[in-house]
Amino acid sequence: MGASPGEEIAYVNGEFMPLGEAMIPIEDRGFQFADGVYEVVATYRGSPFAIEEHMQRLQRSLAEIRIDHDVSSMPPLIEEGIKRSGFDEALVYIQITRGVAPRHHEFPAQPPRPTVVMTVKELRRPDPQLHASGVKVISTPDLRWKRCDIKSIALLPNILAKQLAHEAKAYEALLVDEEGYVTEGSSTSSFLVQDDVVCTTPPSSRILPSITRSVLCEIITELGITLEEKNSTLADYLAADEVFLAGTTTEAMPVIAIDDAIISGGEPGPLTRKIREAFVDSVRNR
Ligand SMILES: Cc1ncc(COP(=O)(O)O)c(C=O)c1O
Repeated sequence: MGASPGEEIAYVNGEFMPLGEAMIPIEDRGFQFADGVYEVVATYRGSPFAIEEHMQRLQRSLAEIRIDHDVSSMPPLIEEGIKRSGFDEALVYIQITRGVAPRHHEFPAQPPRPTVVMTVKELRRPDPQLHASGVKVISTPDLRWKRCDIKSIALLPNILAKQLAHEAKAYEALLVDEEGYVTEGSSTSSFLVQDDVVCTTPPSSRILPSITRSVLCEIITELGITLEEKNSTLADYLAADEVFLAGTTTEAMPVIAIDDAIISGGEPGPLTRKIREAFVDSVRNR
């Protein structure tokens, strides 16, 4: 597939424009305080994947941080942004902040209009070779706040963790909480396979309710594979038969090393491959 002709697009409060022309005032509370939430949606065959689920999660994130904004008008705008961009496959980033107001920590007395921003770029999925060979990850302490279920734009702990992974030439950082449990990756969910049972962290305020995670959980169950939502320690991950990651652009990605330990003999494991193949089939047939 050649590069698709297209243009990176921005949408700011009702207007589309080329990405390079988009601007936000300095006193936007997203810029000042990370007072906002976001979503990332990828396309398959040009259509946004799991758009309803993403919109539900966005609406919930807004409600949890008490921004009064209805996202029901977003799906047609997302479609329009994708169309305007002209990319065959697009990655849509949506960010909604509490809006622009003089900088005081408390909410402005008169709620400002929330700032609604979207960017549409060409979707670049990980090199297919990575799915074939599997990736290395590192482990690092989970330094995040206690409401990881909110898709907050405050991502500093995630960024610091991902940078450590990058410096270690690893794909991802697995986050380990104070009790020694792996919560998830810095921008992915995590799964392990032990004795033909797939385990992943149960939904709670300790992890993001990942859309890919829930699609994969359905697929795993449909495949007749036993799924257990339970907490697993880093030691469980190191001793696992197989490990994989999940995310919107990552899809289902085999892990073949954690820190210095080899996982599943250094090759993607059979259940991981089966689950990934079923995922790819299902998204293409959706
Ligand atoms: C912390 C975290 N976990 C998991 C995910 C995967 O979520 P999704 O499958 O909805 O992309 C993300 C995605 O950004 C994330 O930031």
